[in-house]
Amino acid sequence: MKFYILTLFPEMIEAALFHSIIKKAIERQIIEIECINIRDFAGNKHNQVDDYPYGGGAGMVMRAQPVYDAYESIRRNISPNCRVVYMTPQGEKFSQKKAESFSQEDDLVLICGHYEGIDQRVIDEIVTDEISVGDYVLTGGELAAAIVVDATARLVGGVLGKAESSLNDSFSNGMLEHAHYTRPMEFMGRCVPDVLLSGNHGKIAKWRQEESVRKTMAKRPDLLQDKS
Ligand SMILES: C[S@@+](CC[C@H](N)C(=O)[O-])C[C@H]1O[C@@H](n2cnc3c(N)ncnc32)[C@H](O)[C@@H]1O
Repeated sequence: MKFYILTLFPEMIEAALFHSIIKKAIERQIIEIECINIRDFAGNKHNQVDDYPYGGGAGMVMRAQPVYDAYESIRRNISPNCRVVYMTPQGEKFSQKKAESFSQEDDLVLICGHYEGIDQRVIDEIVTDEISVGDYVLTGGELAAAIVVDATARLVGGVLGKAESSLNDSFSNGMLEHAHYTRPMEFMGRCVPDVLLSGNHGKIAKWRQEESVRKTMAKRPDLLQDKS
């Protein structure tokens, strides 16, 4: 799967994503991440990509043309029905379900806004999905795009070590995952639950299932309501 990220700050994407599991997946050529610097398409001698808002008011607006030209520069490389995602606090709330859906695509374009956002006309022209990472406002779309790429990429086949290792993750089956423990058996007087040391796989699976329900009821009862 290939991610194309249209951004004014490619270094923010690189700093966030080119590490650990995602970096290994890139090196193993399972996924690809290409940043397109919108400033390269400014089309004026000061490389200015923003301008004053029509109607007045505080803040600047990213101009439509550089964003459109940045998109045009990759259009020939992407699939004809490739989804084009604008990161915006006004979008649909990102979720594990959305990440699963994105991970089925061959490629995905993500557009990061800055300042007051992007001229609405280019959004209307090229964007297929608007995604928010939560009800708060960031200075730019880069951290939000990195979240979407990370959550999506780890669901692409072969990115995680074991194919099944995302199956029991929180939200995958509408529940929170059970607790995890590793060595030592005792830490600060707190012991690993006996059942996990029993070697009885049936009992362990049952305990994990019950833990998952207990945690979900305690922390996110809304998820159980959504299931029923
Ligand atoms: C300062 S914000 C603009 C907010 C805009 N004026 C508004 O009130 O809706 C600048 C850029 O950051 C990104 N951004 C900010 N908050 C975000 C969020 N919660 N989810 C996704 N992207 C966000 C968007 O790309 C946005 O264009």
